[in-house]
Amino acid sequence: MRLDKLISNSTSFTRSQAKFAIRGGKVKIDGVVAKNAAQQVTEESNVEYMGVAVNKVQPRYIMFNKPTGVVCANKDKDHTTVFDSLFLPRQDTLHVAGRLDIDTTGLVLITDDGQWLHRITSPKHNHKKVYLVELDSPITDNQIRILNEGVQLKKEKKRSLPAEIEVIEDQKIRMTISEGKYHQVKRMLAAVGNHVVTLHREKIAHIELDETLAEGEWRELTSAELELQVM
Ligand code: URA
Repeated sequence: MRLDKLISNSTSFTRSQAKFAIRGGKVKIDGVVAKNAAQQVTEESNVEYMGVAVNKVQPRYIMFNKPTGVVCANKDKDHTTVFDSLFLPRQDTLHVAGRLDIDTTGLVLITDDGQWLHRITSPKHNHKKVYLVELDSPITDNQIRILNEGVQLKKEKKRSLPAEIEVIEDQKIRMTISEGKYHQVKRMLAAVGNHVVTLHREKIAHIELDETLAEGEWRELTSAELELQVM
């Protein structure tokens, strides 16, 4: 079958979107960049769009560097979503593992593997998340002490688990938490009398945001990143 036909059959792309992707050098057949939409391929050919197999359904694991103004939802009528930036086939099967607020930047993990999603987000595993935080006023020793002990947040039954704080500058800290409650970093800092000005996620469990990814860019997780997560 023609390459553009196979792509549009296996993805949500139209034939013309498939041709556009091929002309842009984004499609590979058996590891070689395809140039011709009319090229013949078989079911055995390994066809990839931007490194992701399109004709074989395999779970996908993606890291995305989220800019501000983008929401971690599958659909939103008012804002750009993380998925609008991915431009991947079968996007409706993908989900964000641990949402960020619209004004938070940094590491977002996305997958269509439900079990992996559960492992990384389940409170049972308490995976650490590391945030770089710019503050409204200088952090005090007393605020650090309370954060280290865990904070009682409004409308939560239990006190939050202890947060680790590394002071980078008076108004800039690295904060590590092991839960994923709604607006947790902002609420914890507000509870001790400070306020978040900017928030950026650097790391989830062992997976660090790749510094070479500009805001709005993504890449697949490496097998090493995935293995670390499965431990
Ligand atoms: N904590 C917050 O307050 N916001 C985020 O986006 C992530 C963690």
